[in-house]
Amino acid sequence: MAFIFLTILKVQSIHEFKVGGNMGWTIPLSNDTDRYDNWASHNRFSINDTLRFEYTNDSVLVVTREEHERCKLSNPISLFDNGDTVFELNRSGFFYFVSGVSDHCERGLKMIVKVLEAEKGADQTANQTSSVKSEAASILKMDSDTLSQTLMIVGIIAMFTVFYM
Ligand SMILES: *[C@@H]1O[C@H](CO)[C@@H](O)[C@H](O)[C@H]1NC(C)=O
Ligand SMILES: *[C@@H]1O[C@H](CO)[C@@H](O)[C@H](O)[C@H]1NC(C)=O
Ligand SMILES: *[C@@H]1O[C@H](CO)[C@@H](O)[C@H](O)[C@H]1NC(C)=O
Ligand SMILES: *[C@@H]1O[C@H](CO)[C@@H](O)[C@H](O)[C@H]1NC(C)=O
Repeated sequence: MAFIFLTILKVQSIHEFKVGGNMGWTIPLSNDTDRYDNWASHNRFSINDTLRFEYTNDSVLVVTREEHERCKLSNPISLFDNGDTVFELNRSGFFYFVSGVSDHCERGLKMIVKVLEAEKGADQTANQTSSVKSEAASILKMDSDTLSQTLMIVGIIAMFTVFYM
């Protein structure tokens, strides 16, 4: 029975990363202007992981590569300014973030995040999971198909249990 459960429960592991660690999303010191790229380069991001931005009197824009490079704020892909933004990395490749407040981007409140290609095997999943464990809080997430399958199996097992008792 345990075996059946383990086979069917394909529990997917996703991670939420708090951007900038304890500092959150704030203008770095002038001797530390690449703080966010340093932070990003010390983490491994996979599809469906999330970034949590915490900030006050600031904002988060998702922009193109060119806009990120030039700190151009006028035409963002997305804009968030509620102080606590959870952003889902819903594809592989690069995401470009800048602050939407005038001159904060120039002062280093900007970041490039690279999301790895989708995983191919369970071994790799285990590998990635262990490598990010120290940096991120783990969230267990079951997709709805898996959940309904699991509920069905639980129901069947419960039925058998009742019959044999
Ligand atoms: C930047 O300067 C501050 C003091 O002003 C110092 O505490 C900090 O370690 C320095 N950071 C880096 C990355 O050099
Ligand atoms: C990712 O999310 C954005 C914003 O919600 C959406 O525009 C885009 O189509 C999504 N990409 C994929 C691959 O799902
Ligand atoms: C990401 O989430 C979507 C929707 O929840 C799912 O269809 C997709 O398989 C997930 N991708 C990966 C790589 O886990
Ligand atoms: C796990 O990661 C290490 C180093 O990052 C790598 O050498 C190894 O091949 C990986 N193993 C699997 C099963 O992907």
